[in-house]
Amino acid sequence: DEDKLYRYKGVLYPRLMCPEEHLKVLGTFQAREDDVMTVAYPKCGFNWMVGVVKRITDIIESTGVKPESKGAPLIEFMGPDILKDLAQDPSPRVLGTHMHPDNIPASFYAKKTKMLVIFRNPKDTLVSYYHFYNNNVVLPTVQSWESFFSDFMSGEVCWGSYFDHALAWEKMMDDPNVMIVTYEDIKQDLIQGIRQISAFFGFSLTEAQVQHVAGESSFSAMKARATNTHGVMAGVVFRKGEVGDWRNHFTPEQSKEMDEAFNKHLAGTRLGAKLRYQLHCQ
Ligand code: A3P
Repeated sequence: DEDKLYRYKGVLYPRLMCPEEHLKVLGTFQAREDDVMTVAYPKCGFNWMVGVVKRITDIIESTGVKPESKGAPLIEFMGPDILKDLAQDPSPRVLGTHMHPDNIPASFYAKKTKMLVIFRNPKDTLVSYYHFYNNNVVLPTVQSWESFFSDFMSGEVCWGSYFDHALAWEKMMDDPNVMIVTYEDIKQDLIQGIRQISAFFGFSLTEAQVQHVAGESSFSAMKARATNTHGVMAGVVFRKGEVGDWRNHFTPEQSKEMDEAFNKHLAGTRLGAKLRYQLHCQ
């Protein structure tokens, strides 16, 4: 079980999905200005946003009905061979990553590629991550809820510390090539979220197309397609899809510990305010 994870530059990764070889070649990744890039710390709603973006780009490119492409286009999962093929793909390429902003290939910044970043309140993120670990053969078995809680709090989980990622994005809130959205805001108003996302990437959708993408991106619609898009991972990638499931898991002490960590790292930050912690976590 221990072998399932390894450390690269101090951060844990799942060996099977992103072996060291993949992370080593990532630095040479050739981004394009018109790549459509989604970035998220694990379990913040990455697959949701990728689903939205795929639907938008399918409409823009559409010459007929196209089957939804499979899986999550995480660049760190690809490795040299797939990266070579990707270099031949037509634009716009739909790509994504869970990497910390400092470890996103430099070419994305050099080319000013637009990056959609989704964040989620840390309590629900932790709960979602716990279930993901529990139901994913490439990750070690969780010893207990308590042990996973403390691993998350200390950043001893795959892709590292939630707070490290959040603090790094906080510094990029004014970057015109970065748009940060929250799971909770998109959940509250998916239609508005789709308008913002398509405008950010420079795609203009009609109101009917926005409505269509929203219909296809609801939790139930995505879950219904999940066996086709995500295979055996369907049930855990589209688990519950709600805000506030942390209330069914956290003890009062754990809740307090997270509140303190949030205050320590994110109180007074703009990303912290955007997450509306008081509303969703207290
Ligand atoms: P839960 O485990 O709380 O249900 P990621 O894609 O970053 O791994 O995040 C997975 C989380 O996003 C899961 O949360 C999943 O249910 C939720 N999710 C996926 N698609 C969604 C959708 N269309 N609407 C709402 N939540 C969605």
